[in-house]
Amino acid sequence: MGNGQFIEVKSPLDNSLLGKVHALTRDEVDVRIKTAKKAFPEWSQMPMYERIQVLHKTADLLEQNQTELTSLLVKEVGKDKKSAQAEVVRTADFIRYTADTAKTLHGESMHGDSFKGYKKGKFAIIKRQPLGLVLAVSPFNYPVNLAASKIAPALVMGNTVVFKPASVGCLSGLYLVDMFHKAGVPKEVLQPITGKGSEIGDYVVTHPLLDFINFTGSTEIGQKISKQVSMVPQLMELGGKDAAIILEDADLESAAKNIVAGAFSYSGQRCTAVKRVLVIESVHDKLLEKIQEYMKRLVVGNPLEVNADVVPLISTKSADFVWNLIQSTLEKGGKLITGGKREGNLIYPTLIDNVTTDMELAWVEPFGPVLPILTVSSIEEAVSIANQSEYGLQASLFTKDINRAFLIAEKLQVGTVQINGKTERGPDHLPFLGVKSSGIGVQGIRYSMEAMTRLKSTVINLTLE
Ligand code: G3P
Repeated sequence: MGNGQFIEVKSPLDNSLLGKVHALTRDEVDVRIKTAKKAFPEWSQMPMYERIQVLHKTADLLEQNQTELTSLLVKEVGKDKKSAQAEVVRTADFIRYTADTAKTLHGESMHGDSFKGYKKGKFAIIKRQPLGLVLAVSPFNYPVNLAASKIAPALVMGNTVVFKPASVGCLSGLYLVDMFHKAGVPKEVLQPITGKGSEIGDYVVTHPLLDFINFTGSTEIGQKISKQVSMVPQLMELGGKDAAIILEDADLESAAKNIVAGAFSYSGQRCTAVKRVLVIESVHDKLLEKIQEYMKRLVVGNPLEVNADVVPLISTKSADFVWNLIQSTLEKGGKLITGGKREGNLIYPTLIDNVTTDMELAWVEPFGPVLPILTVSSIEEAVSIANQSEYGLQASLFTKDINRAFLIAEKLQVGTVQINGKTERGPDHLPFLGVKSSGIGVQGIRYSMEAMTRLKSTVINLTLE
């Protein structure tokens, strides 16, 4: 096929060869984009009910194949089996909820005479129409779920899709595409694009036939794409530096449990991971003690051998980045409380106290199992430090005073504030958004569907007399 070039996909766990994918040339990419664009009229004209049925069938197939796909996820992105299986099941649930939501998104009518000066004869029929061709780009850490979170809402609303999986995780992403195809999505309607980002990346995102770009990935790449594409509407889910803010009246047991789960599951390779703790000094020591207790329960190792919470990072480059961040923080006065150990790409869960705002770790997104503790003297200081971040994805706030929590939440420059819970995207029908460098637009099932459609208003002027 084509230039016959392939990319080998190897496991980050043991470097075993998992498969090969086409390294498409620009011309081959162009053909796939044009094919998907050409398929738009017919797909968008298909009765919504039929598209809904296809989505339900896709979800059924995902569940029927969850064992095989779970095993692939473990090998391909080093996710522990429990999390990998949860991702597959969550994706089937996501697709079903999307299908059901489509039944409710049928537009509305508005009567002109509810506005001063207008007569009864004027009213509007407002429909939702698909935008056309959507480019879906997914990251390595949820290669199935964050692919479906773009593809399913796009397809059910009548768009066609070209899908670019992350190089790491592309086999899992292509497995999902196969489920859509087997369920009845015509191949021309959902076109996968694989290849070297350095060769086709810019070409894909700047292709003139695209009507929408739905991207999850790093802030660096997201900002680059956004500058390149100007008028093409986008949904971008980018990086984060989610803070867990602990007030003096917090339930420290619950806070510690949530912080450890939020910071270290899948080795912190989540955009919504807890990536810094801002704790009021009066409860610092007690909180630190409890965090250590929960960290002791973390299972560390190779997910091919154990059901680990902390697994080898996705690449040596990632592991080096995280390791250097740990070393530089300790050199600048950070106090190692636990961890600080590395075996290959496996970095042990690391807790560093006495982190100050002049240290990189206070601001940089590690995407690894390292958690900085910053002690603050007041909630005002905590909010100020939290808001100084370039990121604004989520924040957690632990306090028993819910009234106070809402007042503080208002001041936090983030898309979502979790009160007495860890930062996380789910449940997937809730709005999920980042402000500042954390993203553009709002995901979450209905929000994604609305983003990938436009309104069409047809105004009727009846002659009443
Ligand atoms: O990292 C991607 C982001 O979507 C994380 O999702 O469900 O782990 O909070 P979740």
